[in-house]
Amino acid sequence: MSDSTESNENNQPVAAVEAYQQATLAIRGGYQRTHEAEHSEAMFLTSSYVFENAELAAKHFSNELQGNVYSRYTNPTVRAFEERLAAMEGGEQAVATSSGMAATLSIVMALLQSGDHILCSKDVFGSTRVMLNKYIVKFGVEVTYVSLTDLDAWQQGIQLNTKMLFCESPSNPMSEIADLEALARLSKKAGALFVVDNCFCTPVLQKPLEWGADIVVHSATKYLDGQGRCLGGAVVGSSELMEQIVGFLRAAGPTMSPFNAWVFLKGLETLRIRMQAHSANAAELATWLNNHPRVSKVFYAGLEDHPGHSLAKKQQSDFGGVLSFAVAGGREQAWTVINNTRTLSLTANLGDTKTTIVHPATTTHGRLSDEERQQAGIGENLIRIAVGLEDIVDIKNDLELGLNRI
Ligand SMILES: Cc1ncc(COP(=O)(O)O)c(C=O)c1O
Repeated sequence: MSDSTESNENNQPVAAVEAYQQATLAIRGGYQRTHEAEHSEAMFLTSSYVFENAELAAKHFSNELQGNVYSRYTNPTVRAFEERLAAMEGGEQAVATSSGMAATLSIVMALLQSGDHILCSKDVFGSTRVMLNKYIVKFGVEVTYVSLTDLDAWQQGIQLNTKMLFCESPSNPMSEIADLEALARLSKKAGALFVVDNCFCTPVLQKPLEWGADIVVHSATKYLDGQGRCLGGAVVGSSELMEQIVGFLRAAGPTMSPFNAWVFLKGLETLRIRMQAHSANAAELATWLNNHPRVSKVFYAGLEDHPGHSLAKKQQSDFGGVLSFAVAGGREQAWTVINNTRTLSLTANLGDTKTTIVHPATTTHGRLSDEERQQAGIGENLIRIAVGLEDIVDIKNDLELGLNRI
């Protein structure tokens, strides 16, 4: 970013100055003020950049000189978001994309080739599965699935051509927890890359790279934004891997818009306190639902009887804002609960200040076959809640309206 006050230490990006605490990096990392001395980060809404003369233009285009050429390649606001997120995840570099799905697509397109094999956990986000099963396989990449928590199955699932292990932890919507350290070890032994979707925890609650993952993938659409405004995604890892992803993005184009990058950049500043508040609300709701007579099971790793509780305690600093619960009955009873809420938003998104509620079997995971849903444990009586930041009393009261009618 251009800066006429380069000697002023006060203007240096925090990540570049020294190793600060994550809370400070979230607020001050990755940004260098321009000569306008703005306090809040500037937004560069421009698709291209101007050169002073033809010689300089030629040098920029031939990469003899580094600098902005076109916003599909680089944009200062997008770069600021990337640097801040990379600092928070503890990665060398981050690359921003137009959505979370574009982030996963970029990883696969840039780093794999025909004949390679992806070993993936069964209960990844629905679109991830559809993308892999319907499109990626068309390019000769093989995909097989294993249970997220079954380490033997992961071990046995590894083939000679396995080049990538992919998982989400906690999983959506069942809140299962992967043993990241063990999977990273397995992956290294197999010579494969280990990719973790860190959407539900964000770097505030979990840093997969510290447990040995090679790549972290995000849907920034969720908690990084935090207020349901923009679509975006990101990939974080070593510069060597990220440069390959940058190459794909520059050629293929699913890059992040500067406007969205600015929203996410500002979202990161409040991420820590939001994640703490989401986790506190979710923990209280999980306990309440667990004691409710019309609820047959609650899936939230913060509950002590959850099979992933101790693992989550080891690798996460808190349990996050998403939980699922099964009501007594089937689809009719689940829909009754959803249809009787007054305040909660019936919408597929999560990670918002507003609590969202959804029936996974007929919405987010509706495209899976009955067998796939069954394997993932997603029953017709399951409801997913992404607990927002409203007063927990109102969230409980809203759910009670429907629970009382089944
Ligand atoms: C865990 C997870 N990963 C990836 C995605 C995809 O992100 P996006 O909708 O930004 O493409 C989602 C979306 O809900 C998700 O929940």
